[in-house]
Parts: sequence; structure tokens; C-alpha cells
Amino acid sequence: MTKIKVGILGATGAVGQRFVQLLADHPWFEVAALGASDRSAGVPYKQRRWVLQPDMPEAERDMTLRLGEPQNFGDCQVIFSATPNDVAERVEAEFAAAGFYVFTNAGPHRMDADVPLMITDVNPEHAALIRVQQAQRGWSGFIVANSNCTSTNLTSALKPLHDAFGLEKVFVVSMQAVSGAGYPGVSTMDISDNVIPYIGNEEPKLEEEPLKMLGRFTGDGIDFADFAISAHCNRVPTLDGHLECVSVALRNQATPEQAAEVLRSYRSVPQELGLPSAPDPCIVVRDEPDRPQVRLDRMAGHGMATVVGRIRRDPILDLKFVLLGHTTVRGAAGGSVLNAELLLQQGYIF
Ligand SMILES: NC(=O)c1ccc[n+]([C@@H]2O[C@H](COP(=O)([O-])OP(=O)(O)OC[C@H]3O[C@@H](n4cnc5c(N)ncnc54)[C@H](OP(=O)(O)O)[C@@H]3O)[C@@H](O)[C@H]2O)c1
Repeated sequence: MTKIKVGILGATGAVGQRFVQLLADHPWFEVAALGASDRSAGVPYKQRRWVLQPDMPEAERDMTLRLGEPQNFGDCQVIFSATPNDVAERVEAEFAAAGFYVFTNAGPHRMDADVPLMITDVNPEHAALIRVQQAQRGWSGFIVANSNCTSTNLTSALKPLHDAFGLEKVFVVSMQAVSGAGYPGVSTMDISDNVIPYIGNEEPKLEEEPLKMLGRFTGDGIDFADFAISAHCNRVPTLDGHLECVSVALRNQATPEQAAEVLRSYRSVPQELGLPSAPDPCIVVRDEPDRPQVRLDRMAGHGMATVVGRIRRDPILDLKFVLLGHTTVRGAAGGSVLNAELLLQQGYIF
């Protein structure tokens, strides 16, 4: 199979580097171009600081960074975007209008009515919104968005529970790793020996995005899920892996054991198709009283699984549990790559 050529916007950042890492030796995609700001354009990638283990892949080391604009990516079909929001708002629509298939991690287009906000294991059927988007905007390309990293993990765990029992209320408290703030991100002086009980604009995302992703595709839009989410978001001094403590009220009662079974047995389209980046299982349920833990569990399913534990009765709502997901793998780059694998398989990319 001839590999699809992809470009990465924001390739020097926390998410961009994760894209480079995850796409090295990918069976279907080949990195052909790397983009960054005008501070980096023209510079070989190897001259920029690499913050992941293992070292920067050999194939990208001598690539020259390009300014992230469509005319500089003519040798690519797919664009993985990891640029700041203000840049994404400006350039992603230009890329899609120019015929590129854009998978974005940025925020501006997530809640657009004609943009699929996709977690491949949760709402693969929302991909059909692409045809609505292309018809409405006259684009041959498209934009598909990833959710916020904290929303991704939460929604992945809520999906089986919503399908089986119906969600009525969700209360969530997050403990979010510093990689979620990008590189170099939060200053050491701010985060060491500390928990910061505020992440700008994060709580509204966590309260809205899951409702779109758990909504129903109606043929021309998304009918949002009908339950309420209350979120508290905190930045904590971990590197990778967002931990979330969740309480839920259910429309149909369930025991902790029933909820655990529903989560443990959840399978979706990526697992059925055997997509290269699909975790199987996509939800790992831990029975130990002290799991999941950030350092021990964030790489479950190569960083693509959501880990759930401590499922128990909640004396105020119905059930409560703890979940964990990798910030820049499942919560960002890996989620985008899995979306792209599905859309290639389904003929949206050609
Ligand atoms: N970090 C996460 O876990 C996470 C999760 C989900 C979504 N996101 C979203 O993903 C995007 C990237 O986040 P990040 O954490 O990777 O950020 P980051 O570490 O700050 O990286 C930003 C990247 O964008 C480039 N850039 C900055 N200004 C630019 C400009 N004017 N034109 C073109 N490129 C520019 C930077 O290039 P230079 O090196 O040249 O400055 C760098 O490659 C953001 O929209 C963020 O909200 C992040």
C-alpha cells in the first residue's frame, strides 16, 4: 500500500512531537512535512528541543521546518494540526478549503455545528457530518476535531454507561498533568509543591464537549446528549496523564459490578476493524483499591486506553469512580491518528 503523506502543524510543541513519535513507522501514513511558527521555519527539526523518549526519529531529523500555511504543504494530503488556537482559527479552514484533510487538536472548530468532534471508539458515526460540512462550505477537504484531552478520557468512560443506563448528572474533578499546558508550559515555580485550582477556559470545555460527542447524528447535525456536567479542573505536578474523579447519577439504576462489566466489555468500530492504533480493550478496568495511578497506568494500551477503577456507590449521586488517560497520546495526537485511520478505512481520505 502506498502510504498517505501527512504534514504536522505545530511539530515542535508537546502535541506535535507526540505526532512525530506516533507516526514513525506507521503502516498507512508517512510524515512528509513539519510546520511551526516563523520563529522556527527554515531550521532543521533536529535543532529544536525534543522532549520525549526515545530520541527524535531518524527520518525527521533533517527535515526543514516550514511555515504552517497551505502553499507550503502541497506534497501532503492529510494535515495533523497542533497549533495554538489563534493560529488554528486562521489556517485550518484555509487548509480544508484547499483540499487538505485536517485533523485538529485545537479548540476553535470543535463546537462548529458541521465539524465532527470525534473519539473514534465513542462516536465514529459522527464522521458522516463531514459530507454536511463539505456541502455547506464547498470544501473538497474537511476539518475533523479532537476533543480537549480531559474531555476525551471522561467521554470514553461515560459512553458505555450512558448507552447501558442513561446518564442524568455527571460531577467531575480533574487533576491534569503539565503536558496538557504545552511546552514549556507552566513554570516550575508555579507548579512545584503545588496544585493550581484553575485552568483557563477548561471547565466549559469539559461541561460541553462530551454532550456533543455523546449526541446523536441526525443526518444534518448533532442532537446533543441531554444531561448536565459540573466540572472542577486542577493543574497538578505530574508530567503526563490526567486523573479524574467522577460521580454520576443514572436514569436506570446499576450496581458497581454491573457498571464495571459494561465498561470492561465495551468494544467499538476501531476494535472491530483492527485499526493500527486502536487499543483493545479501549477501557481497562482495574479492581485494586488504589488504581488507576498516573505513573503506573498512563501507558495502558500504549497510552490509548482509558483506565477506570475504584467503581463504587456514591451516597449523593449513584456511582463514583476514578479514570485516567494519557494527555498527549489518547488525549491529543494518538486520538487524531486513530480518527484518520478510521476515515481512511471508510473512504473519506483518498
Ligand atoms: N498539550 C496537550 O495535551 C493538548 C491536548 C489537546 C489539545 N491541545 C491543543 O493542541 C494545540 C497544541 O498544543 P501544544 O500543547 O502542543 O502547544 P505547544 O507545546 O505550545 O506547541 C505549539 C506549537 O505551535 C507552533 N506555533 C506557535 N505559534 C505559531 C504560529 N504563529 N504559527 C504557526 N505555528 C505556531 C509552535 O512552533 P514554534 O516552536 O515555532 O513556536 C509549536 O510547534 C493547542 O491548540 C492545544 O490547545 C493540546
